[in-house]
Amino acid sequence: MALIAKETSAFLEKEIGRSVRMAIILGSGLNPVVRELPTDQLIPYKDIPGFPTVGVKGHAGNLHIGVVAGGPCALFAGRVHYYEGHRMAQVAYPVTVAHALGAQIVMVTNAAGGIHPALQTGAFMLIRDQINLMGSSPLMGLTPSKGVTPFADMSRAYSKRLRQLADSVFREQGEDVFEGVLAAVCGPAYETPAEVRMLRALGADAVCMSTVPEVIMARALDMEVLGISCITNRAAGLQQAPLSHEEVMRAGAAQVRSLASVLKGLFVRLA
Ligand code: HPA
Repeated sequence: MALIAKETSAFLEKEIGRSVRMAIILGSGLNPVVRELPTDQLIPYKDIPGFPTVGVKGHAGNLHIGVVAGGPCALFAGRVHYYEGHRMAQVAYPVTVAHALGAQIVMVTNAAGGIHPALQTGAFMLIRDQINLMGSSPLMGLTPSKGVTPFADMSRAYSKRLRQLADSVFREQGEDVFEGVLAAVCGPAYETPAEVRMLRALGADAVCMSTVPEVIMARALDMEVLGISCITNRAAGLQQAPLSHEEVMRAGAAQVRSLASVLKGLFVRLA
């Protein structure tokens, strides 16, 4: 299995023709971040050969390219989810494309349910480590080749350097931030309270249905990774109200401004 289709490389070269240093992948309800980080080129995912289509409400499906706060950047607005029925390698395709564009740093954002008591709705979590409970990997079937290995070392999946930098930007901007472990499940149904108790026992501080595939691919490609979870709800059994996608989207939207200014602050530091 080749990492990137020939037609995709040709398209990127023809339509973009410049390299980026950083890539941002936006999670559920977080697409409006693109309005706060202006770029100069928009490419609908559907125009990119080999790119999976995204179908979930609230996930636009556009690649934005430009210089943000001094840093050449690719912004992926609209995430590809495993629960939509895509293969794992397709779910991680934005990372593969970001790598092909020259990105060395990937910032992955998501909506997540808070399990740790410190992670109430509206909180931010810097991801220190992850637990893959999705039952698959984007590296399945990958042939080892120059610059990529299916046997990726995941012992330092999330960059300590970027985490420390992000922590100081959050604090500078007056935002509290927690550091913790993210578990990813397949979804699309939310967890049961018993599953959330299991996740807590396994050492998870928050739970999501994304991110982990992209981070595995990024590490296989030796990219430096920062992960930020926006806590959009307390996980199942920890809040009174039933969980809904609409609630997750609404809560995510409320965090857009803060998230965008933290990302901008990070870009300034990294530029
Ligand atoms: N569980 C899984 N994924 C999520 C949640 C959750 O509670 N909230 C946002 N994404």
